[in-house]
Amino acid sequence: MLKPNKLASTNFLSSLDMRAEEINHIFELANNFKNKELELNFRNKVLGLIFDKSSTRTRVSFEVAMSRLGGHTIDLNPNTSQIGRGELIKDTARVLSRYCDVLAIRTFKHTDLEEYAKWSTKPVINALTDLEHPCQALADFLTILEEFGKLENLILTYIGDGNNVANSLILCGALLGVKIRIACPKGYEPHPNVIKKANEINNNDNFLLITNDPHEAASGANIIYTDVWSSMGQEKQKEEKDKDFKNFTVDSNLVSKAKANVIVLHCLPAYRSKEITNDVIESDKSRIFKQAENRLHVQQALLATMLLEK
Ligand code: CP
Ligand code: NVA
Repeated sequence: MLKPNKLASTNFLSSLDMRAEEINHIFELANNFKNKELELNFRNKVLGLIFDKSSTRTRVSFEVAMSRLGGHTIDLNPNTSQIGRGELIKDTARVLSRYCDVLAIRTFKHTDLEEYAKWSTKPVINALTDLEHPCQALADFLTILEEFGKLENLILTYIGDGNNVANSLILCGALLGVKIRIACPKGYEPHPNVIKKANEINNNDNFLLITNDPHEAASGANIIYTDVWSSMGQEKQKEEKDKDFKNFTVDSNLVSKAKANVIVLHCLPAYRSKEITNDVIESDKSRIFKQAENRLHVQQALLATMLLEK
């Protein structure tokens, strides 16, 4: 039976906290959990969830993953804990890591997540920040691997805002050898440090293309991926962003520019008829709900590697 190996990094704050072989190990474990070929018991282990933003998939998949591992979850809502009152992260982290065995945190500033990790004595997982969404990227690339049977030299085209999801796709893609194209309006490019780091990891000339032309980016793609135009916390910019992104809808015309066997992904939740049309979500090219299911399997695998005793 496959056994989980401990990861080199204590925390999973960024896609860069795993090496390619560790990501592949997570995929193998996830596949075993998914096919019910692996059962592990982490009885009495507790995952603390600190979510400063809403969530359906990430929260529920972490809860179910922990339950399947025989452990428990505590959902720490800032409104019902002292976090909402402004208790310092360094105090919260030192206390919670004395009760919990691992923490998954969804917050705004990536530096706040890093502050939790600095003071926590237990592993910290990024459940989404404004900069990255690394658990999402793991589920996305597992879905792609399942569909194509390989990752190398595939072209993943992301159409939309160059923020958290795009940043993690770029970094994880760089590690796994997937070519990434980002199509976004001017001013919505991915974070410069992400681009720099990704190009250092994967110095293949064709690895990363960033363009303002969604049709150029979609041409010949194996995977078309999109995300909401206005992320959580950007509600006030919604009207302006709707205008800026108006030519960036993933519709059947755009999808027809890609390879014949293209698959369409979306991290969800979606605004149908904004970033993606209803017919594309419901089309036979969509793997969006399989992708959502894979959140559970990769996070179960991730937790298993993090809960191992040293
Ligand atoms: N994709 C994703 O993270 O969804 P939730 O916001 O529902 O967790
Ligand atoms: N970019 C989106 C992703 C949601 C899963 C957001 O941050 O709201």
